Amino acid sequence: MSLDPTPLTARRSGPLKGRVGVPGDKSISHRALILGALTVGETRICGLLEGEDVLNTGKAVGALGARVERSGPGEWRVHGVGIAGFAEPKSPLDFGNSGTGCRLMLGAVAGCPIAATFDGDGSLRKRPMRRVLEPLERFGAQTLTSSDGRVPLTLAGAREPIPIVFEPQVASAQLKSAVLLAGLSAPGETVVIEAEATRDHTERMLAHFGASIRVEPHGALGRRITLDGQPELAPQPVTVPADPSSAAFVLVAAAITPGSDVIVEGVMMNPLRTGLFTTLAEMGLAIEPLATRNEGGEEVADVRVRGGVLRGVEVPAARAPSMIDEYPVLAVAAAFAEGTTVMRGLKELRVKESDRLAATAELLRVNGAMVDIDGDDLIVEGRGRAPGGGLVATHMDHRLAMSALVMGLASERPVKIDDGSFIATSFPGFVELMRSLGADLS
Ligand code: S3P
Repeated sequence: MSLDPTPLTARRSGPLKGRVGVPGDKSISHRALILGALTVGETRICGLLEGEDVLNTGKAVGALGARVERSGPGEWRVHGVGIAGFAEPKSPLDFGNSGTGCRLMLGAVAGCPIAATFDGDGSLRKRPMRRVLEPLERFGAQTLTSSDGRVPLTLAGAREPIPIVFEPQVASAQLKSAVLLAGLSAPGETVVIEAEATRDHTERMLAHFGASIRVEPHGALGRRITLDGQPELAPQPVTVPADPSSAAFVLVAAAITPGSDVIVEGVMMNPLRTGLFTTLAEMGLAIEPLATRNEGGEEVADVRVRGGVLRGVEVPAARAPSMIDEYPVLAVAAAFAEGTTVMRGLKELRVKESDRLAATAELLRVNGAMVDIDGDDLIVEGRGRAPGGGLVATHMDHRLAMSALVMGLASERPVKIDDGSFIATSFPGFVELMRSLGADLS
């Protein structure tokens, strides 16, 4: 990652037109590398997201003894060492900007008899890890050093892991996944009881690799997940579909730029990830999934959006897990809608790559939009237009950077960001792809 900030400016653009593919899903890419490393034999991955976050996970599993090789663009091979087979790394594992890489790997290491130090950049060093360490300690792992439950920290994995029953207090797929990955090394059943279902990529991929895992409904919104420990994981090919969280920036840009007509190809339509599409449709947007098909165990579709008039809506808190990364760009769409949009239950946004609740409100405010935070709710008074003209502080947060640039494409005056370098964590090639559709970014 370059240490030099990259300021960027987005200017009002004509209609965006074209058909594009966005990079592979970040969540699935991390999991493919990690599960590949926990399997004995060779896992072939195609469509891997080659963003900084995922590359750091690849380096981490390499430092723990798995062999990770790139055989072509997006094509990777992982020679795994098996469950509990990691070797002690010689130096700290650096997860850069990635909470997902760090938390999932804490889980994978927690069931191995080794000690490893976890670290990351200035953003990751502020993020809470206690939520993950607490259940991992119940497996028998020990936190040897940590500053206030943050990285850098050293975790000693359990020599004889004990399976646990865990009810997370926050809706977090990272937390659930860390527990399931630790549960792979424990004899007997590890159970996670989620009050609200979160993205289920770990469960799906564990089943794909041959683990015995049962998922049952729990309450109105939740799930009970039971994993049988110490399975034989068999290497399986993984095809990574296009990331709906990256597609979101392209689709919202088209939605707010009059006359646009854009198709994003092969977008993953897992219902635990598509809350933004539901919300945009409720706002009155013409958003159509075309050529829906199954690829590598996930439903995918080419998603077409045409620019149009949006209206304000209320987004229920229960939808948050299925669109948790999309609120900054939804808030931008809401500024261009007619009427008020209320986004409820956004507490978790405070502990993302930045305090995304405060930073999203600030992004809109410096560009002349009307916005308020009320408790954990974000309220945007849409006026069908935005003045723009602001300089947005991106706080080492890729999604704030891309959201601000999207806003600039339809604002009256240019929108500048202080640093676009973090876009490479999740969406390498974003600027070029947007330019290919007609966006004025420099
Ligand atoms: C992710 C889960 C979410 C999301 C992140 C990716 C994952 O985080 O924000 O970008 O891959 O499991 P939380 O689990 O903290 O909600």
